[in-house]
Amino acid sequence: MNKKLELIKAEALREIESSKDENSLNKIYKKHFKELSSIFSQMGTLSPEEKKVIGVKANEIKQAITISFENKKKNFTKKDKTNSEFFDITIPGKKTKVGHLHPITQAINEAENIFRGMGFSIVEGPELEDEWHNFDALNFPEDHPAREMQDTFFVKNEPKKRLLMRTHTSPVQIRYMLDNKPPYRIIVPGRVFRNEATDASHEVNFHQIEGLMVDKEISVANFKAVIEEFCREFFNRDVKIRLRPSFFPFTEPSFEVDMSCSECKGKGCSLCSQTGWLEILGAGIVHPSVFKNSGVDPKKWQGFAFGLGWDRWVMLKYKINDIRLFYNGDLRFLNQF
Ligand code: PHE
Repeated sequence: MNKKLELIKAEALREIESSKDENSLNKIYKKHFKELSSIFSQMGTLSPEEKKVIGVKANEIKQAITISFENKKKNFTKKDKTNSEFFDITIPGKKTKVGHLHPITQAINEAENIFRGMGFSIVEGPELEDEWHNFDALNFPEDHPAREMQDTFFVKNEPKKRLLMRTHTSPVQIRYMLDNKPPYRIIVPGRVFRNEATDASHEVNFHQIEGLMVDKEISVANFKAVIEEFCREFFNRDVKIRLRPSFFPFTEPSFEVDMSCSECKGKGCSLCSQTGWLEILGAGIVHPSVFKNSGVDPKKWQGFAFGLGWDRWVMLKYKINDIRLFYNGDLRFLNQF
């Protein structure tokens, strides 16, 4: 029994010492503890003298193994800790992805700079508008079909207090004139909404840039000069402009403005449907009723207003053939800007 104890001790200490991790150390300890227990249980068969000697020895060995086990265990936990705290300063850092402004926004910033150069201020208005600012004040009669052409999303459907997602940036003309005294020289970039069947050139949500210039003697000639200069700077080339008669309730006379085709320079191609011209905005001379609704005396003041479909301008500038690319968040598209 004495020999057996010596054997257990030697083996246990050796195995504990060479154990590689905490798991195997625990197993080794359990195994030898079991062996020792069986020795203790066999002690009933010994004579009283033998019992004394073996008992003392067995207890000493049990203690030695336990101490060795505890020491080794401490060693492991210390090592684990230092491992988790170890920080390798030579590993290259993780790069944070930095986004950038959307191409529409970048182009709006560019447009703002050009108009600022011509003395215009930048003004904004709410996207959720009331019916009065969006239609009534702009001289749309209550049952006029033009309201239907600009069908949109109505949010609060109470008569006379209806809220809607604005169909154009023109209501900001009213808001600005009510709050400020003429003369005016502003542009209003912003998001607008319509109930559209979506396709390559129509979206339910798109952008416009509104313009308003009012003074004592402002004419269509001033309008043409401003728009020509803007086109020249934005598209970075010489352009021709032509006006065609059109209708808007809030301007009189009204016109559609065409620009000589950026693709074929006026010769005729598929982009301009062989006409040599691209329709780029709606405009006109501010209607007297609009001035009246905004607290401005139409006998003293006159001016022009225009509205650019901004997505189309950006599409023309960068030869983008589908408006939906602006809104589907595809990084393969957005990263090109
Ligand atoms: N608001 C008009 C539209 O969305 C454009 C426009 C603005 C026309 C200003 C004339 C004057 O179609």
